Amino acid sequence: MVFMTASSDPKVKLYDLHPPLDDFRAEVLAGLGRLPKSVSPKFLYDKRGAELFDAICTLDEYYLTRTEMAILQTYAGEIATLIGDGALIEFGSGSSQKVRIILDAMPQLPVYVGLDISKQHLQESCTQLAKDYRGLEAIAICTDYTQPLQLPDIPAIGNKHKVGFFPGSSIGNLEPQEAVQFLKNTALSLEEGDLLIGVDLKKDKAILEAAYDDAQGISAEFALNLLTRINRELGADFQVENFEYRAVYNPVGRIEMYLISLIDQVVHLGDATISFDAGEQLQTENSYKYTISEFQKIATLAGFQSKQVWTDPQQWFSLHYLHLASQ
Ligand code: AVJ
Repeated sequence: MVFMTASSDPKVKLYDLHPPLDDFRAEVLAGLGRLPKSVSPKFLYDKRGAELFDAICTLDEYYLTRTEMAILQTYAGEIATLIGDGALIEFGSGSSQKVRIILDAMPQLPVYVGLDISKQHLQESCTQLAKDYRGLEAIAICTDYTQPLQLPDIPAIGNKHKVGFFPGSSIGNLEPQEAVQFLKNTALSLEEGDLLIGVDLKKDKAILEAAYDDAQGISAEFALNLLTRINRELGADFQVENFEYRAVYNPVGRIEMYLISLIDQVVHLGDATISFDAGEQLQTENSYKYTISEFQKIATLAGFQSKQVWTDPQQWFSLHYLHLASQ
């Protein structure tokens, strides 16, 4: 059921689709019961985790954010022309830093729709956008965009063509077949629209491993914070200092991130007792890297057609403009 709440800024409409809350305890217990042990990366982002991820994005080693922003800057004019007078729909409306580069290049854009599971974040970022871009109608939809979704009937969108925006190579957290499914779902919600998506490229192993295991140890702190969160929210007794972070490039095409148990140890979570052998891994994330043509193949499997690809001079990151072929 869709229901609308008036928000403080008259320019921002909020549609709260009431995304179901994750069952953190059940998902963590299930993940720790599997072999190899794993916990979904979506749980990395509590308040502290979100701060640490923002810090990662500013690290010298983490080239992704600045490279994608530079591509957006360089090609903002071309991107603006392709978007035209469509409605721009951002999947995961976080800090909105990236979408501002596009908005700066297209003052005529009539509608921005931000989708995010965190209602507070979403409202703040949409309100700020509405303040800074006066002609823009900003619409906030609180939902879990990783799930199949039907956009509510939004008068401001009318029959404007919809352009999805999914930056940051967030799609890299998905297995390739999940990425196809995710793109199919977005295709359904975009109808005959387009999708502007950032995808990190394959490159030298040393560059990739440094990006995910920086000298200052912020990436390590980001992963280890998951254990602190599980202790705090679920009452577990992880001894964080008995785990070590590792990021390894697997030549199948992904960075694998783990916490490694440094000793034989036992952890309690409610009634459950979880034992770790020395050297055993708890997987926190995969981050898939693609070549341009590998990603185009995934997009094609989901029904999209590549209209344009931009990259940086070193070819470290790619920005794809995809068009949903009509049936
Ligand atoms: C948010 C999934 C795009 O894979 O680069 C960065 C997450 N984890 N450093 C990535 C991440 C550790 C990031 N994504």
